[in-house]
Amino acid sequence: MAEPIKVVVTGAAGQIAYSLLYMISKGDVFGQDQPLVLHLLDIPPMMGVLEGVVMELMDCALPLLRSVVPTADPEVAFKDVSAAFLVGAMPRKQGMERRDLLAANVKIFQVQGEALDRNAKKDVKVLVVGNPANTNAMVCSRFAPSIPKENFSAMTRLDQNRAQAQVAAKVGVPVGDISNVIIWGNHSSTQYPDATHALVNKNGSETNAAAEVKDDCWFKNVFVETVQKRGASVIAARKMSSAMSAAKAAADHMKDWFMGTPKGKFVSMGVMSDGSYGAPKDVIFSFPVTIENCKWKIVQGLEIDDFSQKMINNTGKELEEERTEAFNIISNKL
Ligand code: NAI
Repeated sequence: MAEPIKVVVTGAAGQIAYSLLYMISKGDVFGQDQPLVLHLLDIPPMMGVLEGVVMELMDCALPLLRSVVPTADPEVAFKDVSAAFLVGAMPRKQGMERRDLLAANVKIFQVQGEALDRNAKKDVKVLVVGNPANTNAMVCSRFAPSIPKENFSAMTRLDQNRAQAQVAAKVGVPVGDISNVIIWGNHSSTQYPDATHALVNKNGSETNAAAEVKDDCWFKNVFVETVQKRGASVIAARKMSSAMSAAKAAADHMKDWFMGTPKGKFVSMGVMSDGSYGAPKDVIFSFPVTIENCKWKIVQGLEIDDFSQKMINNTGKELEEERTEAFNIISNKL
């Protein structure tokens, strides 16, 4: 069996981590032959809760999990890690302005970027889940200059999974028979869920989902809005934000990054933009990507109609605004 790899999860005492840690530890992400050492980072007041999480992990008796290191010290948490799930972030509190929220998160992701830079393996794969995920990932990468920019990503996989499930329900097939649904842009209400290129597998042959449904109005209106507002709908029903599905999405994202995507299939990841499809450069923008040998590549040459381009431009504009605000916060602090 392989040597254990070190994997860090931040926000480890929180609700997403509670589902995610089990998925990682039983081999859903790095495979059934890959033993793990888990590093769990949270803030000092949560160390008691974290102790309970460690006890439960131990009580799961998971053969792949070799040891667990709970800590409030980023230098310990990021030491020699090969994969980092950055789930912890400052939540919006009542009366908090957007700028205050961004400022608190810039600080967190600066500290974590610097600690990754000093401690992590140089080929570490970083997935930012904590919101605002795209801009947090950009800040984190900026403060970790010795780690390639391609190694930082933001999670839009939950949006992709939600979109895939909506299309499957509309077409009337199991969710596994739908692929190539795209999330463009920001993990926010401006994201653009796009099923234009989605495929349906019917008895082994693949057809275009939109052609199958023949309901353009549903795709442009109902589908887009349902996916954009799904997080809010879950909160309204559960009185808590998505956690199990967010954990599953984080596991899917990292698994595909390590294991690759099947031929002809793509997934959506927030990655450093090269300006493809008219997206602004140098923001973390969600694109369709294929992955091989742990390296992602933006899918090129997809046909983009006027409606899609407008939606891509709109979410890109929001990311540029977030970047400007984040840079203002950083330069005021320096
Ligand atoms: P939670 O509030 O249950 O847990 C967050 C944990 O992070 C807490 O234990 C907190 O103490 C910890 N934390 C705060 N600051 C930290 C720091 N500097 N270092 C380490 N840990 C820190 O929240 P939940 O539900 O687990 O969500 C976590 C984040 O994920 C939130 O920002 C949420 O908005 C985001 N999210 C993102 C999604 C996406 O699709 N990208 C989907 C769902 C949630």
